[in-house]
Parts: sequence; C-alpha cells; structure tokens
Amino acid sequence: MKVDEFLDKVILGDCLQILRQLPNECVDMVFADPPFNLGKQYDSYRDRKRLDEYLNWCKEWLHELVRVTKPTGSIFVHNIPKWLTYFASFLNEVAYFKHWIAWDAPGQPLGKTLYPRHYGILYYTKSPKGFKFYDLRFPHPRCRLCQAPLRDYGGKKHLMHPFGPLVSDIWTDIHRIRHKVRRDEHPCQLPEHLLERLILMCTDEGDIVLDPFVGTGTTAVAAKRLGRHFIAIDIDPKYVEMTRRKLERVYPSKIGDCYVSVFLGKVVTVRDKDWEKLSSNFRISKDLRRRKAAFFGDTPSQIPTLPFEDRVATIFSKSGVR
Ligand SMILES: C[S@@+](CC[C@H](N)C(=O)[O-])C[C@H]1O[C@@H](n2cnc3c(N)ncnc32)[C@H](O)[C@@H]1O
Repeated sequence: MKVDEFLDKVILGDCLQILRQLPNECVDMVFADPPFNLGKQYDSYRDRKRLDEYLNWCKEWLHELVRVTKPTGSIFVHNIPKWLTYFASFLNEVAYFKHWIAWDAPGQPLGKTLYPRHYGILYYTKSPKGFKFYDLRFPHPRCRLCQAPLRDYGGKKHLMHPFGPLVSDIWTDIHRIRHKVRRDEHPCQLPEHLLERLILMCTDEGDIVLDPFVGTGTTAVAAKRLGRHFIAIDIDPKYVEMTRRKLERVYPSKIGDCYVSVFLGKVVTVRDKDWEKLSSNFRISKDLRRRKAAFFGDTPSQIPTLPFEDRVATIFSKSGVR
C-alpha cells in the first residue's frame, strides 16, 4: 500500500499488522511510547506480559519502525530505563545511536533502591550521516515575580542568549501532566510540548510523523500543530476516538512563517535558526503587536514591549492553541 493512504489518519488496530502494510523508508520520524509492561490500567490492553514475550514483541515493532523510516529520518522510543537498555541493544544492530535523552519526570519511589527521577527517550537515526537535525532553544529559567534569570552562567550573564540556552540531552523544563483539567482518561498521557520539541528537532513542515502507540493522540496533535503529517495507531477504540476528537480542535502553532512550541501561552521551544529570524524581523514583531491589539481591542501603540515568549501568549491562548 502507498503511504498516502495512511496519512493524517488515526488507525484502530494492532500496530504490527498496520506497520507491515507500510512501504520501506516512507516516514521522517517515528516516536514510540509502548506499554511499560508494569500492569498499568489501560482500557482494553493487558499490560503484563512474560519478560521474553514482551521483549520479543518489542523487537518486532522496533524492526518495523526502523524499516519504515527514511534515510534522513529519526527514531525515538520513550520508556523506563530498564526497558530502554534492551531496546538499545536491538536498535544498535539496525540504526545509529544519537542520544539517551533524560526527561526529568519523577516516578513512583521503588522503596529498595534509588528513587527513579527520569524517563528515557532513545534517539536513533536511520543513517550515520545526512539525517535531519535542528538546534533548539528553550527559555531561561526566570523568577516568576521579577523575570530575572535564575542562573548567572558563571558570572557571564552578559554573554547569555536573549531567549535561552540550546536544548541538551537533559530536559528539566517539561513536566508530566498532573492537573486533572489537562489530563485525558489515560494512564500515561505525555505532554504535547514534549513531542513538539522532538518534532521541531528533526523534521520539516510537510514531513510525516508516525506513532504506533498513540494513546490519547499526543504525537498526532503535536505533528498537526506543527504543520506535519501524522500516522497514528492504537489498539484501543476509546483512545482512537479521543484522538480523533482532539485533532478536530488543533490550530497551527506558528509565528510568521516559523513553527514554535507553546505551553500555557509561552514559547517553550524554538529552532535556533527561527529565533534569529523572529527576533531580527521587525515586520513580524509589528505584526504580533497588531494581532495582539486586535484581540484586546487596543491600538498597537498601547501594547507594551514584552519578552518574546510573553508577546505571543495572548495570540495563542485566544486562538485556542492552549
Ligand atoms: C504508554 S501508552 C501511549 C500513551 C501516549 N504516548 C499518549 O501520550 O497518550 C501505550 C498505548 O499503546 C496502546 N497499545 C498497546 N498495545 C498495542 C498494539 N499492539 N498496537 C497498537 N497500540 C497498542 C495502548 O492502548 C496505549 O494507549
């Protein structure tokens, strides 16, 4: 079957069966957040397999994911460190290791050994060279009251980037969804801006992002918001329905012609090259002032100059982005 037949669809079914219908090297990015085999309460899936059964199953879909990824594409797998060690040993045979991203998100205390403080995201590329990658920036941590930066960068604040540092392989600024109002009825929903960061890092507008375990649609929503196509699969009809409904309400997350990731009205990830463009382009800042003024019914000159990430706040919240 041609990949076009799967584009921008939320497919109900077993991911292995669906993946086997996809042609070789047809997607730009895959993100997999499989069941953790920890006995989580999903709606219909039984999350407790025997160790060898679980690992053999994971090996099968991991191989499919690498097969369908384009030579310029990237493969991401999210899980607890225990399972990622096995996944890495499979992936090392068929793809190229780039990073183990440590996402600082406290788990449940185990009681016997160290308190688990991070989830891992394995980052592999299909090819050793020629893969897509863009440097990203996130905002400096600032005091909530006075907006002063919380770090002094070894006394070199004057050399600090005006927006924020380059994103590293440790992510401490994205939090798990705790508020009930922001959660869907799913035991392991990921934050959309986590996926947006990955998508901005390694795909372009119009590229295809595949998630074989889409749950409540996090990856599909993030991809659509950033102007990418998605292929979303889940075995559970309830989650598939939820995802389809969420996708109906997605607006592009864009300033001028640059896609950015926004959470609670603030830009939380921007491409380094887009930052240059946005901050130096007076026309865009004038446009933002005009659009913001239109929402408030003010004249553009009444709008105070705010830090870049705050300037977009109203535009995004009023347009229903978040
Ligand atoms: C860890 S959750 C993914 C959560 C998702 N990242 C989100 O943010 O909502 C794993 C998902 O895999 C689905 N699943 C389990 N076995 C599957 C299979 N064989 N094929 C497709 N989906 C499956 C479950 O229904 C569940 O929604």
